[in-house]
Amino acid sequence: MRLLVTGGAGFIGSAFLRRTLRGNTYTALCNADKLTYAGNLENLPGAAGDARYSLERVDIADAEEVERVFASFRPDAVVHFAAESHVDRSILSPEPVVRTNVHGTFTLLEAARRHGTPRFVHVSTDEVYGSIDEPHDADESYPLVTASPYSASKAGSDLLALSYAKTYKMNISVTRASNNYGPYQFPEKLIPLMIANALEGKELPVYGDGQQIRDWLYVDDHCSAIEAVLHKGRAGEVYNIGGSRALPNLDVVRRILEATGRGPELIKYVADRPGHDRRYAITSDKVKRETGWKPAMEFEAGLAATVNWYRDNPQWIANVRSGAYREFYEKNYAGR
Ligand code: NAD
Ligand code: TYD
Repeated sequence: MRLLVTGGAGFIGSAFLRRTLRGNTYTALCNADKLTYAGNLENLPGAAGDARYSLERVDIADAEEVERVFASFRPDAVVHFAAESHVDRSILSPEPVVRTNVHGTFTLLEAARRHGTPRFVHVSTDEVYGSIDEPHDADESYPLVTASPYSASKAGSDLLALSYAKTYKMNISVTRASNNYGPYQFPEKLIPLMIANALEGKELPVYGDGQQIRDWLYVDDHCSAIEAVLHKGRAGEVYNIGGSRALPNLDVVRRILEATGRGPELIKYVADRPGHDRRYAITSDKVKRETGWKPAMEFEAGLAATVNWYRDNPQWIANVRSGAYREFYEKNYAGR
C-alpha cells in the first residue's frame, strides 16, 4: 500500500511515520508537509535513509502542488494530519488556521476525488464537541459546538470530509482524538511547555484557575488507533479516540513538577485564555468495538517516559526554541 501522510514532520504525524517505517505494511510512504514552525525533520531520525520514504515540501492549500503530489505518488490511501494545531495561535492569528485546516483539507479531498484515491482518514479532535458538562461524555453523535478558531476550523474540515464521503461515495473516515502527549511535541502545548520550562527552572504559566479538564492520550496509542481506523474503519463514519484519563490542568502541572524535582513556586497563574473550554470528555466505545483498538499506555508511565525524553533531549528543545532546526531545513530544502 502506498500511503500519503500529510503533516508527517509534526508531533503526531512524525510518531505515525516512525511507527509505520518500523513495520512493513506500506511499500511507500510520502510525507507531504509545508514545514511550518511546527514541522521539524529532526522528528524523523533515519527516515531519509529508508528507500520507502519520501518528502514533498508542499502547502496543502495549494491545489497545484497537491495535484503534482497525487499525480506522481499515486497514493492508495491518505492519512491527513497537517494542520495549524494550536488554540492560542489560532486566537492570535486565525487566517493561517482557516487556510490550512479548512481550505487545505478541501484541496486534499478534491485531489483524492479526482484521482479516485481508495481510502482517506481525516485526523481531527475532540475539541469540535466543545466544553462538555459533567457527568456527560460526548459520543460521535454529539453536536459540534466550537469556541476557538482552531476548533471551528477542525469542525468545518470534518464536515467537508463527511460530505465527500456521502455525496461522492468516497471511502473517508474521520477520527476525533483527545489531547495527545509524548516525545517530540512542540513546547507550546501544555505538557511539553511545562516539562521544558520545569527542566530549565522557568515559570509554568497556568491559565485561569487551572481547573480545566482535558483527557490525555499517549501519542503512540493515538497512532495505533489511526492505523486501526485506516484498515478497519467504515466510510462516512466518525471515530472518537480517547485516553480515558481526564485530569485538571493543575493536577498535570503538579505531576510534572514532581517528576522534574521542582517546587510549586514555579507555578504562575496568568490570565485565562479567551473562550477557554472548561472540560473535554469523549467515549471511545465505537473505535474499540469496531476495530478492536485499545490504548496501551497508562498516564503515569506515559508522563514519566515523556519527561525522560525531554530530559534526555535538551538539544532538541534548544533547537526548537531558538529556531535552529528551521535554519537547517531552509538551507537543505530551500526551493522545494
Ligand atoms: P503539529 O502542529 O505538531 O504538526 C502539524 C504539521 O502540519 C507540521 O509538520 C506542519 O509543518 C504541517 N503543516 C501545517 N500547515 C501545513 C500546510 N499548509 N501544508 C502542509 N503541511 C502543513 O500538529 P499535531 O499536534 O501533530 O496534530 C496533528 C493533527 O492531529 C492535526 O490535524 C490536529 O488537529 C490533530 N489533533 C491533535 C491533537 C493534539 O493533542 N496535538 C489532538 C487531537 C487531534
Ligand atoms: P493545550 O495544550 O494548548 O491544548 P488544548 O487547548 O488544545 O486542549 O492546552 C491544554 C490545557 O492547558 C488548556 O486547558 C489550556 C491550558 N494551558 C495552560 O494552562 N497554560 C499553558 O501555557 C498552555 C499552553 C495551556
